[in-house]
Amino acid sequence: MSLKIGRNEPCWCGSGRKYKTCHEMFDEKIAWLKSQGHKVPSRTIIKTPEQIAGIRESAKINIAVLDYVSQHIRAGMSTEEIDRMVYEKTTAMGGIPAPLNYEGFPKSVCTSVNDQVCHGIPSEADILKDGDIINVDVSTNRNGYYSDSSRMFLIGEVSEEKRRLVQVTKECVEIGLKEVKPWGFLGDMGQAVHDHAYENGYTVVREIGGHGIGLEFHEEPWVGYNSKRGHEMVMAPGMIFTIEPMVNMGGAAIYVDSDNDWTVYTQDGMPSAQWEIQVLVTDDGAEIISY
Ligand code: MF3
Ligand code: CO
Repeated sequence: MSLKIGRNEPCWCGSGRKYKTCHEMFDEKIAWLKSQGHKVPSRTIIKTPEQIAGIRESAKINIAVLDYVSQHIRAGMSTEEIDRMVYEKTTAMGGIPAPLNYEGFPKSVCTSVNDQVCHGIPSEADILKDGDIINVDVSTNRNGYYSDSSRMFLIGEVSEEKRRLVQVTKECVEIGLKEVKPWGFLGDMGQAVHDHAYENGYTVVREIGGHGIGLEFHEEPWVGYNSKRGHEMVMAPGMIFTIEPMVNMGGAAIYVDSDNDWTVYTQDGMPSAQWEIQVLVTDDGAEIISY
């Protein structure tokens, strides 16, 4: 049985427009790409205008929290203090920190220092010191809509080689973003990120990637950076996902802390950097939702 929408009936996307002037061509394009063997997004991850508006409101908090952290972060501060700032600012603005109790995560934010790749757990015992690089990964739930982005911070005087790692990782995200456009492939973005890192002598973590996001913290698709141009899921207008490569100064190998089952470290103890943006695929390109 198939439920074909009448061409004059309201579109499934909730725009209020007739199907024939809204998503009919979209559906035909998706069906054709699927018939050609491509991975295509399911309708459930295509956001409606109303959902996009809600996600933007969530992202306003997420961005404000990161701005707040950037104004206060300094040497001598514990990562627990960053956690407190994130909790206070998020809740004061009407949001809930999405990491808190997410699959048992004990804190409101991930703080990953130097050779910590991601999922660092804030602690009173971890004091930021001169020369550290840290990723602060903030995620917000507001009215059931999710946002997620992360930034790197340089603490005091940071060595030239660590600065360069942080800078190149940021460039990776920006170069990847340029590849986000409707009817391209996630592999276009992934390969661009990968190539820029490797051209600079770095490696990219293979096992952990970005993700669809919006109505849930983590949705389809999984977004890797060891993918190839012309491969992986087709990008369609209304999709929202993160670009968040973890770039290592040394080898790509990682391990998970067996004491907390969360924190990921580089195998060789070399530094790792990560920036994360949340992007919306639009009708003619991409729009940053959270940075
Ligand atoms: N913010 C992380 C991401 O980019 C999620 C961390 S999972 C958590 O997907 F439980 F630690 F929050
Ligand atoms: Co994320």
